[in-house]
Amino acid sequence: MSTIPKKNLNNGRQIPVLGLGTYKEEDENKLITAIKTAVKVGYRHFDCAPVYYNEKQVGHGLREAIDESNGSVKREDIFITSKLWCSFFSKEKVPVCLENTLKDLALDYLDLYLIHWPFGFKEDDGFYPEDSNGKMVPSDIHYLETYKAMEDLVKSGKVKSIGVSNFNIQQLQDVLDNCEIKPVCNQFEIHPLLHNNELVDFCQKNDITVVAYAPFGAPDRSWLKPEDPVALKHPVVLEIAKKHNRTAGQVILRWLIQRNIVVIPKSVNPGRIEENSKIFDFTLSDDDMAAFNTIKEQFRYYSFDECDNHPRYPF
Ligand SMILES: NC(=O)c1ccc[n+]([C@@H]2O[C@H](COP(=O)([O-])OP(=O)(O)OC[C@H]3O[C@@H](n4cnc5c(N)ncnc54)[C@H](OP(=O)(O)O)[C@@H]3O)[C@@H](O)[C@H]2O)c1
Repeated sequence: MSTIPKKNLNNGRQIPVLGLGTYKEEDENKLITAIKTAVKVGYRHFDCAPVYYNEKQVGHGLREAIDESNGSVKREDIFITSKLWCSFFSKEKVPVCLENTLKDLALDYLDLYLIHWPFGFKEDDGFYPEDSNGKMVPSDIHYLETYKAMEDLVKSGKVKSIGVSNFNIQQLQDVLDNCEIKPVCNQFEIHPLLHNNELVDFCQKNDITVVAYAPFGAPDRSWLKPEDPVALKHPVVLEIAKKHNRTAGQVILRWLIQRNIVVIPKSVNPGRIEENSKIFDFTLSDDDMAAFNTIKEQFRYYSFDECDNHPRYPF
């Protein structure tokens, strides 16, 4: 079992630097096995969202993992993140979205609640209200209104920390200029084919923890095109993996962690869940770290271009 280090957040709380992603799996048995395996091998951080359509299943997995630990793992030992979806952007809907998540996960509080994207959609029309061109119907509610309602959730005690996801530098600065409670993190896409250095630097200078999603480039995404570049197979990654006698996945996670970035790789494969946790017993050299910077080709796997007409589209 790995002891997974924790990183201090700007509000005095701590987040484990490795968490388990849960997107793109809805099968209850697979999720229960994945979460129980993860807890057994040392994970204490799970990344969830209502738009993954699996928070009930994740909740069952967490409960079984805690029950089967015979008291050695308690709810308060586990860091659970979820996210406010775009169709719950109004101040009235923010607590509703949280209550749905708490009910599905069967929890009475979250460790971290994020605004999933910096834009809102039309409310009361499902998670993806599409227009006739397949674009999401925007709402004109600004994320600052949403963020204020998120601050109220901290005050109510139902959420220990709040943050954002997929916000760009200007949007984060806007939140910093207007908030009462500083966001503890920004969660966004980072992997060998999308370094996002400017945004990482901005967050780290402002004491906002960076959480990297899709560290492997989401090879299980349904919108994969055969011509898309494959992060896990980039020659620089393979070379460093060979040098350290580790897998491509392990050196990618190590590269991120050595940049002081929290990682949330998704897996429902027990072997890979364990493999991804065995990254705290080796170090990449300065030359290895520099080698990642030689990868000039950059590719965004999560562009969410059904929203690229929204005035607050971040990319
Ligand atoms: N905030 C946001 O907007 C946002 C967006 C996307 C994702 N996320 C979060 O970030 C998490 C991670 O991102 P992601 O799921 O998109 O992609 P990812 O973690 O980059 O990739 C997951 C894929 O990699 C495979 N995999 C896992 N470990 C591996 C290893 N060691 N070697 C080779 N393949 C491996 C998994 O297969 P198996 O399951 O079969 O192992 C799965 O197909 C999500 O699950 C979600 O929690 C957040």
